[in-house]
Amino acid sequence: MSILITLILLFFFICSPSAAYLLDRLQLPSPLTGPESLAFDRNGGGPYVGSSDGRIFRYIASGPQSGSFVEYGYSSPIRNKAMCDGLTDFSTIQTICGRPLGLGFNHQTNELYVADAYFGLIKIGPNGGAPTQLVRDVQGTPLNFTNALDVDPETGIVYFTQASANYQFRDLTALLNSGDSSGSLFMFDPRTNQTRELLRGLAMAAGVAGSSDGSFVLVTEFLGRRIQRFWVRGDRANTSDTFAVLLGSPDNIKRNPSNQFWVAVNSFLGLSPLPTPPVITTGLRYSESGFLLQIVSLLDEYGTQAVSEVQEFNGTLYGGSLYASYAAVFTQYFL
Ligand SMILES: *[C@@H]1O[C@H](CO)[C@@H](O)[C@H](O)[C@H]1NC(C)=O
Ligand SMILES: *[C@@H]1O[C@H](CO)[C@@H](O)[C@H](O)[C@H]1NC(C)=O
Ligand SMILES: *[C@@H]1O[C@H](CO)[C@@H](O)[C@H](O)[C@H]1NC(C)=O
Ligand SMILES: *[C@@H]1O[C@H](CO)[C@@H](O)[C@H](O)[C@H]1NC(C)=O
Repeated sequence: MSILITLILLFFFICSPSAAYLLDRLQLPSPLTGPESLAFDRNGGGPYVGSSDGRIFRYIASGPQSGSFVEYGYSSPIRNKAMCDGLTDFSTIQTICGRPLGLGFNHQTNELYVADAYFGLIKIGPNGGAPTQLVRDVQGTPLNFTNALDVDPETGIVYFTQASANYQFRDLTALLNSGDSSGSLFMFDPRTNQTRELLRGLAMAAGVAGSSDGSFVLVTEFLGRRIQRFWVRGDRANTSDTFAVLLGSPDNIKRNPSNQFWVAVNSFLGLSPLPTPPVITTGLRYSESGFLLQIVSLLDEYGTQAVSEVQEFNGTLYGGSLYASYAAVFTQYFL
C-alpha cells in the first residue's frame, strides 16, 4: 500500500497538477443528493442533474427562480410522486422511483436521454415530464445497472454502459469490493430502435464518451482502472484497444469543445472497503489521441468523497458526485 501512495505522490509531483477551487455550489432541494452526471440543453440551459429520489432537475440561472434547481422530469415509468419525492439514495424503493445516473441531450431534438440504474435507457421529451423507456433488456437479458451515456451529435446514436450484469445500484458497495467484470458497452440507434453490445467483460463500466468525428467511443472501467477505446468506423472498426491506464478509478468521461476528454478519477488510499477510504479526487484532461494534458486536483472540494464527473461547459468546469447534495462549479483560470 505504501508503494501505491508513493506512486500516487510521484504521479502528482511529476505532473504538477493545478488545483480547482470552488466558485459555487448548486444545491439540490433538501434532502436530495447524488447529481452523478450533468447535461446542458442546446440553448445552454442547465445543468440538468439526476437525484436520489428519481427526479431530474434543471438549474435556473436567470429569471424569477434563478439560483435554484426546478423539477424537469423523472425516469421511472412507474414512479409515484407521493411515495418517492424526497427519497434518499440506496433506498429499496428506488426500484420503483428510479435512479437517473447518466444524462445527455440530443441537441437536434432537444430530447434528454437518461441512463436509469433500474429502468435502462430512457428518453424525456423536449418539454420534460414523463419518460419513455427505450431499452429495458438486450436480447432478452434485462439491464440491471445502467450507468452512463453519450449521444452522438451527428447520428443521434446513444452509447451507454451497464456497470455490471450481476449487481444492482443498491448493491454498489458489494460491487466496489468485488472482482466483478460483467460490465458492458452498448449502442442504441434511434432510427431503428436496435441495441447492440459493443464490449463485454468490463470491470465496472462507468463513463462513456464518443469522439468528435464518431470514429471511436471511450469507456471507463472503474474497477479496471483504465479507459478502453472501441472503434466504430475505419480500418479498426469493431476492435478495441487501451486508451489510458490510470492509478485511480475513472468514473464519467466527457468530451469538451476542443474535442478533448475530461475524466473524473478517484485514487482510494488504505485498506478499508470502498467507497469509504480516504480518496484523492482529480479531473484528468486527455487529448483525443490519449495524451494526458492536465491533472486538476479536486481535493479542495471533494476531499473525502469520490467525484463522479468533471465536465467543461462554456468555459466553466462543473463537478458531479454520487454523494454530494449539490453540483460544484469551479474557478476557470486553469482552462
Ligand atoms: C457562456 O458564458 C458567457 C460568459 O462567460 C455568457 O455571457 C453566455 O451567456 C454563456 N453562454 C451560455 C450558452 O450559457
Ligand atoms: C438482474 O435482473 C433480473 C431481472 O430483472 C433479475 O432476475 C436478476 O436477479 C438481476 N440480477 C441481479 C444481480 O440483480
Ligand atoms: C422506435 O420506437 C418508438 C417508440 O419508442 C416508435 O415510435 C418508433 O416508431 C420506433 N421506430 C422504429 C423504426 O421501429
Ligand atoms: C461491425 O460489426 C457489426 C455487427 O456484427 C456489423 O454489422 C458491421 O458491419 C461491422 N462493421 C465493420 C466495419 O466490419
